Amino acid sequence: MSALPDDLGREPRRAPLPILLVEDNDGDADLITDLLAEATPAAPRPVMRATRLSEAVALLERHRVAAVLLDLHLPDAAGIECVSAVRAQARDTPIVVLTGMEDDALAMSCMTAGAQDYLSKQDVRPRTLVRAIDYAEARSREARVRMRAQALRLRSAELELENKRILEISRHKGRLLANMSHELRTPLNAVIGFSQLMADGASTLPAERVRNYAGHILSSGRHLLDLINDILDLARLEAVGLELHPDRTNVAEVAREVVDVVTGSFADKPLAVDIEIDDQLGLVWTDTLRLRQVLYNYLSNAWKFTPEGGHLTVRAAPCGDQRFRVEVEDTGPGIAEEDLARLFTEFTQLPSTVRRQYPGTGLGLALTKRIVEAQGGRVGASSEVGRGSTFFAELPDPEAPGEASPPAGPAEAR
Ligand SMILES: Nc1ncnc2c1ncn2[C@@H]1O[C@H](COP(=O)(O)OP(=O)(O)O)[C@@H](O)[C@H]1O
Ligand SMILES: [Mg+2]
Repeated sequence: MSALPDDLGREPRRAPLPILLVEDNDGDADLITDLLAEATPAAPRPVMRATRLSEAVALLERHRVAAVLLDLHLPDAAGIECVSAVRAQARDTPIVVLTGMEDDALAMSCMTAGAQDYLSKQDVRPRTLVRAIDYAEARSREARVRMRAQALRLRSAELELENKRILEISRHKGRLLANMSHELRTPLNAVIGFSQLMADGASTLPAERVRNYAGHILSSGRHLLDLINDILDLARLEAVGLELHPDRTNVAEVAREVVDVVTGSFADKPLAVDIEIDDQLGLVWTDTLRLRQVLYNYLSNAWKFTPEGGHLTVRAAPCGDQRFRVEVEDTGPGIAEEDLARLFTEFTQLPSTVRRQYPGTGLGLALTKRIVEAQGGRVGASSEVGRGSTFFAELPDPEAPGEASPPAGPAEAR
């Protein structure tokens, strides 16, 4: 690496920063100031003085300083507390503790609390004072460099992870695209093939054949439209995220509507449907259209895959803190344990359920999962082969705006 960040330790050449002397005793303060001036007579370092810890902290809040010379016996604080307070206010500023006669042990513990060095006021000389300040500055610079290097290492590890994630997404997109072209091509080939047959035999084909071919073209065309609609829906979700319009929603009403719609679409296969709504579930705050879409996807699957004479149940109930759950149970063929997890990925259709009678796109559950997760919810399913399946979605039900309990306090005067 050639260019390093500019604050890796080198101070720009400007007027030297002042040294903050935190010392309540005027005699000691004068002594230290004189010693400093004596050490570098040609370029004396500016000194700022504070007599209390609070004053020092307030100064550090407003000024950058080269170093802090810190007495440990101040009118408003003593000992390590002084070091911690200065360190908390000025994270990178070197601190040199000024100690009295019997303070050696205390001085050592100040080093652990963040001081870079300590000096005994009794035997301090101009040279040792300046050396201690320089040394403290160098140590604090080193610490800064170390921290910066550590931060860079962390960032680089983060980037590596992010890279892996992006690579995985890109692979997933590639697979999706491959599947998509296959899925789109199949019905389109049927449309082209049957139209070709009709065109070739336009004058000779018996009406029965024509009806049969047209039927294939119609169902392939419809299938293609379903596919394109679902793919566009998914793409929109990916591109702009989920646009939500939450509203006070009556889940029982939504469930009834969905049952009516699905009953109508599968009029050729009557099934018994129950709706069970928990009494505890009042109106929920959710996007009504999206909830309808989720329930529709689950219920239409259940209906599609459950043989005649079967039974479906739509349930809704509160679950945990500010969440509610909807589920659809069926007495259909059930799903093997190893297949359950992958059902919610795009274009997964189990061979046992692929039927000509009610074709599907294999995108319904993938869409459902996106819609629910984008709202902070989760989806899942449980099943037993030969007995049936239950698909569920848990969704947040936050407090609706304006429903929060009014703040306690005196009523507003009118
Ligand atoms: N209730 C269910 N019972 C059995 N299998 C199901 C059920 N719901 C979904 N599946 C399986 O999951 C697959 C994916 O469902 P979905 O994403 O809705 O696609 P589609 O309904 O278009 O086939 C279905 O093709 C089917 O194999
Ligand atoms: Mg489906």
